[in-house]
This record gives sequence, structure tokens and C-alpha cells, in this order.
Amino acid sequence: MKLLSVNVSLPKEITVKGKTVRTGIFKEPVQGRVRVNKLNLEGDGQADLIGHGGEFRAVYVYSFDNYSHWARELGRTDFTFGQFGENLTVEGMLDQDVHVGDIFRIGTALFEVTQPRVPCYKLAIKMNVEGFYSQILASGRLGFYFRVLEEGEVGAGDLIERVKVDAVGMTIIEANKLMYFDKDNLEGFRKALGVAAFSPGWRVTFEDRLAKAQATTQTKEEFRTLIVNRKVPESETITSFYLVPKDGKPLAPFLPGQFLPLKLDIPGQWKPVLRTYSLSDSPNRDHYRLTIKRELAPPNRPDVYPGASSNYFHDQVESGTPLLTKSPRGKFFLDPHGETGVVLLSAGVGLTPLISMLNAIVDAGSNRPTWFFHGSRNSREHALGKHVRRVAEENSNVHVHIRYSRPLPEDTVGRDHDDEGHVDIELVKRLLPSTDFDFYLCGPTPFMKSLFNGLLAWGIPESRIHYEFFGPASALAERAKVATPKRAAAAAECCEEIEITFSKSGIKANWNPSFESILDLAEANGLSPDYSCRSGICHTCKCTLEEGEVEYVLEPLDPPGQGSVLICCSKPKTSVVVQA
Ligand SMILES: Cc1cc2nc3c(=O)[nH]c(=O)nc-3n(C[C@H](O)[C@H](O)[C@H](O)COP(=O)(O)OP(=O)(O)OC[C@H]3O[C@@H](n4cnc5c(N)ncnc54)[C@H](O)[C@@H]3O)c2cc1C
Ligand code: FES
Repeated sequence: MKLLSVNVSLPKEITVKGKTVRTGIFKEPVQGRVRVNKLNLEGDGQADLIGHGGEFRAVYVYSFDNYSHWARELGRTDFTFGQFGENLTVEGMLDQDVHVGDIFRIGTALFEVTQPRVPCYKLAIKMNVEGFYSQILASGRLGFYFRVLEEGEVGAGDLIERVKVDAVGMTIIEANKLMYFDKDNLEGFRKALGVAAFSPGWRVTFEDRLAKAQATTQTKEEFRTLIVNRKVPESETITSFYLVPKDGKPLAPFLPGQFLPLKLDIPGQWKPVLRTYSLSDSPNRDHYRLTIKRELAPPNRPDVYPGASSNYFHDQVESGTPLLTKSPRGKFFLDPHGETGVVLLSAGVGLTPLISMLNAIVDAGSNRPTWFFHGSRNSREHALGKHVRRVAEENSNVHVHIRYSRPLPEDTVGRDHDDEGHVDIELVKRLLPSTDFDFYLCGPTPFMKSLFNGLLAWGIPESRIHYEFFGPASALAERAKVATPKRAAAAAECCEEIEITFSKSGIKANWNPSFESILDLAEANGLSPDYSCRSGICHTCKCTLEEGEVEYVLEPLDPPGQGSVLICCSKPKTSVVVQA
């Protein structure tokens, strides 16, 4: 492999069909050695920094081997180096041979492949071929971007050495296909997300698609039996369960923060109990870990049974118990290969997805600044405290602060907790060195509301605050809509005439606004549709909406798609026919 030409240009204005376009695509070959900086070659620049440039698209590489293909295809003989807007014209390095994540030494600089080229209309202008960007996309001869790992100098004639082949082995052609032509390829997205070097833009797209694909395939997926092979008490109220496959086949992969749906056959329950539990360890091939708090009956409610599933786990699930599960899912997850600072905020058993994130960060060997804040009542309830302290001791980028709201006399500051009280925004503001973090929250509703609003008031953009509710999600921001008596009365008025038909069972019922959701009404009429989170997260309750319109009482984390409805968190706007 050899570098044939180094090409640069600064952005300039050109006129196309009477319009002025600013572009840096007209690259010209330069002689001699050229300095390679983190963001650019010397003398080079991009006009549109949204579509081009930046750390992960600093240098664009195209193989000269493609020139003859395009000369034949377009009947052209006028190509010069830099023809495709590339910075480096190279010999070899074809898209089927180079992987995202491969590392190359050229001259004294070191480069990492981050993504295929994303062609735009400016390439069509440069080539003087209408719609050339679709042609190049379909050809699989896109070329790729480099990120600069070590600055240095390059020059035409330099040999190119591949220093490292990425372990996952996703070629540029494969990545291109996944992005543009194979948009439902779940396995492909999982493979891509294993490539640490992907640029953040491509990574987010694959994460999004994976989460959506998981959500839409889950209703078709059969339940799978896993076996509990270890039960470990973590505190007086919280216990972990390690699950392994019964069939010996690999476990479905998951992202740190996602949860596992379960269908539990609990003695004494007249139908299977569907629940979701966050996976509390980092993704690994051997096991899933669930960490479950025993839910007692509310105080002063002797008439009510304690939590069905959590008490079943604590009292009856033992090593060897089979459990029916579906593959993990959920939109609350962290990119373990991301580079931004992370703040993990939890209270009570809400720590489970955040422990998974914490473990994934250290397992990935990441140095990203990570803060773990946790609130518990005292050491009797506090789970995984020693583990978190050990992680912080072994990783200088991890900082921990634990607060107990009601410490026991024997609880020691510095060993069990760091101080007394609830985790609140004042603590976070006092300890964090800046606001430049992504925040992940999970805990009881008052905790979530106070932190969410506190972070917004501190100036954290909403896009950097991520959260998960373990119960029904409720409006977090103070500005969010609240159900005023006036709105309730209006709902009552408009809903009196509304009829709901459950088409599979043939049951019809009039809507009554005292029900919280269509699922509630179905249950009141003797139906038992599947559900799990009852909060618009898991899609277990998704049904076909044959006729009519609904509105969401809780906004689903992921909309169910045209013609479907999540009945756990919706109510009818008109008379509806639901396939249930
Ligand atoms: C995405 C997600 C992730 C989760 N991850 C975890 C996790 O990692 N760890 C964890 O411990 N939990 C987790 N949960 C919560 C978990 O799914 C269960 O909701 C929880 O274990 C309680 O279930 P249960 O069957 O024990 O209680 P339920 O039977 O659902 O009862 C819940 C509570 O309501 C009370 N109750 C029952 N009937 C009535 C009534 N008629 N009136 C008043 N009160 C009543 C019960 O006594 C109990 O206190 C998660 C939830 C979600 C949505
Ligand atoms: S039960 Fe989870 S989305 Fe409805």
C-alpha cells in the first residue's frame, strides 16, 4: 500500500445553477511533506462542518484503484489526483479490505479508520455528473475517513503500514451496506456497536436502529429459558440472581442499562406475571445478572399482598430455577465506547442499570471521567457498595459519593457512606468540576423529579439527561403538562360516547375516564392482555389498532409505529377497535 498523492484545498465559493455554494471539495495535489494536524492536513479545510470534518472525519482517503472503474463507468479520461475530493489518494486500501478501527502508519503520522464517506451533492458538482452521490453509494467504492491518532508529516510516495487490524472486522463495504441498504439488520448493528472506533454519528445511528429493531421484533420473539445458577444477597432487602442459558447457546447481547423482560409462573398467581428487570452487570457472554429489591406491602395496607414477583424471587427462586425471558431491550443505555464524561445518579434499587454502565466503562478500559452518586437509607439496604468503592479505588477516572438518608449507629463515614442526606443537585454541583457531562438517572419519582429539574436549572441541556423509571413514568419537568381538574372534566365530557371494541374477544365497552388506560379497561372487562412495564417502555402490550384514534397518557419511549397502539399508556380519542 502506498500514498500516491496528498491533496488539499481551503473552502471557496463557486456558482452552481445561479446559486453560490461554499465548498472545500476541489482538492489539489501538493508537493513535498505535508503536516498532519488533529483536525486537518495543513492547507486543508471543510466548508460544511456538520457534514464533513471534525476529529472523526479529519482526513478522507480514496483508492486510486477506483479511478479506472469510474473512468470506464463514466467514459472519462480527465481525472486528476484529488478527483473525488480525497485528501489522500492511495494505492491498495480498497473498501472490501479495510475495516473500521484499522490503524495505519503513513510517514510519521498514525491514523485510525472511523467510517465510510457520506457522499453529498457537492461530489456531484465536483464530478460534473448529476446524482453522482447515489451512484458512488450504490457502487460500494466510497472510501473512508481517518481520525489522526498521532500528528506528523506525510508525502506522496510514503509506504502505508497497517499497524492493527480491528478485532471485530467490519469492512468499509459492510458498514456502508448496513447504514444505507440493510437497515433492519439487528446482528449487523450489534457487530457495528462492537467497533470502538466508529465515529459518534454512525454509532448513535446504529444504537438507535438496534433499539428500534429490538422493540419491533420483540412481539414475534419466543420466550427463552434461562437457569438461575447463583443467588447472592447484596443487602437485607436486595439480592442478585445470575442467569445462564439452559440450551448452552450464547446469550442475546445487550447494552449497559438495558433491561430483561421475564414471564414468571408464580405459585398462587392465576396467570403468568410479566416483569422487567435491569441487567445489573456489564455485558458479558457468560451470564445476565438481575439485582432485585423485595417489595413489601405499603405500610398501613394489611389488605394488600406484598410484591408478587420480587417476593417470589427472594423466597422461591434458587439455584436451578428456570426462568422464561425475552431478549434484553430498552432505550436507557450508555455507549461504553463514548468519550464524554458521565454522571451516574441513582437512589435505592435504581442503581442496577447504572452499575451495569459503570462496569461497562471500566471493562472497556475507558478513561472517561465517571461520577457515581448513590443514595440509600443505610447499610442494611445499600447494595453493591463495596464493589463500587473497589471500582473507584482501581480506576482513577471513577469518583464515588454515597449518601445515607437514615444511617445506622454503626454506619461509618468513608467506609459505608460519605455523608448524610439525599442525593440532590447541590451535592452534584458542589462536586462536579464542570457541567460538561452526560447524566443518567434512575430512582424513585421524587428523586428523579428533583434531579431532573435541578440539572435543567443548572443549564444542562435536556438532550444530555437520560433516565429510566422502574414504575410508571411520570412527567419530570415542572413545565410538563399536569392533569388539572379542568382537563379531567373535559376528558369526561368528550369521552362519554366513546366505545372500545376488543376485536379478538368480541368484547365491547364504553370508555370511562376513571380508567387510566385502555389496558385498565380491558382488565376490568375480564381480558388479560400481556403487559410488563405498564409505562410505555417495553412494548409488551402492543396491539394492532384496527380503527379509531388514541392519545398517549404517558409518552412511549419508542412510538409503536403506524397501525399499532401501546394499550398500557393510551386512551381513546374516538371509538376504537383494538385487536385484543
Ligand atoms: C425498566 C424497568 C427496570 C426495572 N429494574 C428493576 C431492578 O433492576 N430491580 C428491581 O428490584 N426492580 C426493578 N424494576 C421494578 C420491577 O419490574 C417490579 O416492578 C418490582 O420488582 C415490583 O414488582 P412486584 O411484582 O414485586 O410487585 P407488584 O406485585 O407489582 O406490587 C408492587 C407494589 O404494589 C403493592 N400493591 C399490590 N397491589 C396493590 C394494591 N391493590 N394497592 C396498593 N398497593 C398494591 C405491593 O404490595 C408492592 O409494594 C424495574 C422496572 C422497570 C420498568
Ligand atoms: S406494558 Fe410496557 S409498553 Fe405497555
